[in-house]
Amino acid sequence: MNPRIPLFALAAISLAGCHTDMWRQPKGEPLGENDFFPDGQMSRPLLTGTIARGKIRKDDAFFTGAVNGKWVDTLPVPLTKALLERGQERYNVYCSPCHGQIGDGNGMIANRGFTLKRPVGNYHTDRLRKMPVGHFYDVITNGYGAMYSYSSRVEPSDRWAIVAYIKALQVSQAPGAFGVSRTEIEVARQKHEAAAGADSHSGDSHSGGSHSGESHSGESHAEGAAH
Ligand code: HEC
Repeated sequence: MNPRIPLFALAAISLAGCHTDMWRQPKGEPLGENDFFPDGQMSRPLLTGTIARGKIRKDDAFFTGAVNGKWVDTLPVPLTKALLERGQERYNVYCSPCHGQIGDGNGMIANRGFTLKRPVGNYHTDRLRKMPVGHFYDVITNGYGAMYSYSSRVEPSDRWAIVAYIKALQVSQAPGAFGVSRTEIEVARQKHEAAAGADSHSGDSHSGGSHSGESHSGESHAEGAAH
């Protein structure tokens, strides 16, 4: 008889015992039950005010669009051409389907069977022209009435880029309301085109401007306006 067999059996038994012990240890499984807590769940909610490492949001103006409960009326980021271009691109992706490429509320979705209790907002009203930038940031972050929040899809820095672009759209449609003359806009446009022309490597990046043949109708539209 092989003397190693009983030894092996002994080892197997003691190891198995050890395994069972660890298997049955008094631990909680993440989504398991637990009668100890009133809600009967093992997972505990995060404590109020918990912040993930590296995610502290100290800058109220940047992250909420408001300081001491008042919307900010200047951008908390530098206004640059790159910011506006980013804003234009993100706006066209996320907002133009409803709000239209010039922000008049005439987007493709609004025009093709989209019915909500309230019509899509038109940015070219006196009320919204006077609205501080913080309000626009807040609408993207928290939604507004029938419009849902875009906070899961648009990062804070991109929200500001979109806000800056919306302000540019507002000026473009009613320069007078912002104390800008049409001539000033024309001069700026020519300068921009000259710069773009000098920059001969630019491919088609300047083609998709905000005025691509949308109808420029006035105030409100869209069907189903009953509230
Ligand atoms: C699915 C359609 C839809 C999309 C996409 C959409 N909105 Fe809206 N938006 C609405 C509707 C509808 C309203 C009007 C809500 C109301 O009055 O209850 C509105 C209203 C607004 C208003 C006006 C708020 C006010 O004070 O009257 C702003 C500003 C706005 N949206 C910004 C945006 C921005 C920026 C984006 C892109 C990030 C966006 N929306 C994307 C449907 C949309």
